[in-house]
Amino acid sequence: MLDLPPTSSIVFDPPVIAHRGASARTPENTMSAFRRAREDGALWVETDVKLTYDGVPILMHDETLDRTTNGKGFVANINWSNLSQLDAGSWFDVAYENERVPMLSDLVRFVAAESLRLNLELKPCPGRTRATVMVALIELSKIWPEKAPPPLISSFDVEALIIAANLQPECPRGLLLDEWREDWAELSKRCEAYSLHLKADSLTRDRVTTLKESGKAVLAYVVNEPARVKELLQWGVSAVFSDDPATVLKSL
Ligand code: G3P
Ligand code: MG
Repeated sequence: MLDLPPTSSIVFDPPVIAHRGASARTPENTMSAFRRAREDGALWVETDVKLTYDGVPILMHDETLDRTTNGKGFVANINWSNLSQLDAGSWFDVAYENERVPMLSDLVRFVAAESLRLNLELKPCPGRTRATVMVALIELSKIWPEKAPPPLISSFDVEALIIAANLQPECPRGLLLDEWREDWAELSKRCEAYSLHLKADSLTRDRVTTLKESGKAVLAYVVNEPARVKELLQWGVSAVFSDDPATVLKSL
């Protein structure tokens, strides 16, 4: 049994996690998005990590390059040398045409310099779970500042979280669910989850209460509407993931 931190031990203050950075105002998962999140007052940022063909941990949500870069095809099929040339900003606004896809290490250096907290979502491309977790966490362990609180590691992939638990047990884990699951307790036990990260629409006050009574912290994604954020926080949700931390934070 791992020695997990109690649910009160991770502080979400303010209780807003910038989802892929400030992704409503800047191109998601770019350094501009993370800088903007910081400027907008967020102290937590969330990102998605996966591997290039040649095993470089990079920050991108989709399995393919098509939506968020000027490239085409699968991330798992491109080498870092080619990926690093792509424009990751123009799809959002021409003002961001010089944006590049960050490496995981770019963000780690930034969060360390700015004393931000990181929620690293393991988002392996199909068939690459073990490699993604191992490479991302080994990279983290090499460059994470000794005194900084560890990142919160999350995933929809329970196997990824189990590997993470074995590799870096000191990093708390968040189990992501894209719908309410009656077997949430069994799933979270398998990966010794500290928190459950649920789609906001799948939550009710009773469900939040049940999860909290079992000792789990509850995080909700993705919420950009201030009134809804307030309601979820009142129910006992510890933090919300938002694309627009500026708007949400102003309303708290
Ligand atoms: O971690 C919350 C959220 O990022 C999970 O969904 O698809 O945006 O990575 P997704
Ligand atoms: Mg994510």
